[in-house]
Amino acid sequence: MKILGIESSCDETSAAVISSSENKITLLSNVVTTSLPLHAATGGIIPEVAAREQIKYILPVIDQALQNANIKNNSIPDIDAIAVTVGPGLIGSLLVGVETARTLSYIWKKPLIPVNHLFGHIYANWIYSDLIGTDTRDPQLTTDYYFPAIALVVSGGHTDLALMKSHENILWLGGTRDDAAGEALDKIGRLLGISYPAGSAIEKLALLGNPKAYSFPRPMIGSDDFDFSFSGLKTAVLRLVRSINNITEQDKENICAATQTAIIDVLTAKTIKAAEKYQAKSIVLGGGVAANQTLKTNLSQKAQELNVAIFIPPKNLCTDNAAMIAAAGFFKNQKIPWQEIVPNPELYFD
Ligand code: KG4
Ligand code: ZN
Repeated sequence: MKILGIESSCDETSAAVISSSENKITLLSNVVTTSLPLHAATGGIIPEVAAREQIKYILPVIDQALQNANIKNNSIPDIDAIAVTVGPGLIGSLLVGVETARTLSYIWKKPLIPVNHLFGHIYANWIYSDLIGTDTRDPQLTTDYYFPAIALVVSGGHTDLALMKSHENILWLGGTRDDAAGEALDKIGRLLGISYPAGSAIEKLALLGNPKAYSFPRPMIGSDDFDFSFSGLKTAVLRLVRSINNITEQDKENICAATQTAIIDVLTAKTIKAAEKYQAKSIVLGGGVAANQTLKTNLSQKAQELNVAIFIPPKNLCTDNAAMIAAAGFFKNQKIPWQEIVPNPELYFD
């Protein structure tokens, strides 16, 4: 079975083809383009600008993904379904992907699979790829062995914990009450003059700084739930930055190190607490912030102490991409006729 995935929920435009055979999902192509440089110039995403860029990129990206997968594109491509992100995301951006998928479904007579972007981030862990080449774990569809699993989706828009009892039974445990972890990093980066998105630059600066130079709050780290809150941390950094007359490069590095540590401490504590409570056999990570090496190292260490397996997608599958959407489409596999697909910017775990 071959699935064409389409992702356009925010500022990335992506198309990918996966093939499921011999009990594993193989990535045949994954083309990602982004309008990020435009948003870096304005310090954040302007939805209207992102949607216009989606329109520009969507067809060339799909065309390229089909070509890279060696699927003929001069008539009807050899695919079995089209999986597309229906939400959550920016409505203008979502509409471009959904309407394109709907049109292709109608013309090619291929079923559509609506995909929740959050499940996409989780299912980035179920992709095996020679293209990526770093994956050595035993793949894949036999992963019942790894359930129950705790999924941490941590990105610019989301910080959520979910309990995966099976592919059919995914239960939301908690999420951020205000800023997402990536959003907090991006906003703190802005205070420090770091261009958007700041997560990766903060990680580099943090390596040079002293995480103990400042003691920032770890909001809700001990709360009796699986919720998060990062806006207080942002305010603490704002106050500190205002109190320093002339911020040196060393101050910046220290602030980045202390901020990143505070965020990672909370993410790690809550994820491990969920793994303990639900006696998880594995932890799966997803989302742009999961590209952070310190988070990966800390969480892996704690998971190992608990004797829980941990899966983290390669960097290019942590950030938004269509391969993860196609993979989630494979597992969710709720095919619908083209007339029924509707984008939903507010979509949550369901
Ligand atoms: O998953 P993603 O590409 O888009 C959303 O769905 O939001 O995540 C983007 C977020 C941004 O907030 C960015 O700052 C953060 O991921 N990010 C990182 C790193 N790389 C990207 N955060 C921490 N460390 C990184 N290496
Ligand atoms: Zn995302």
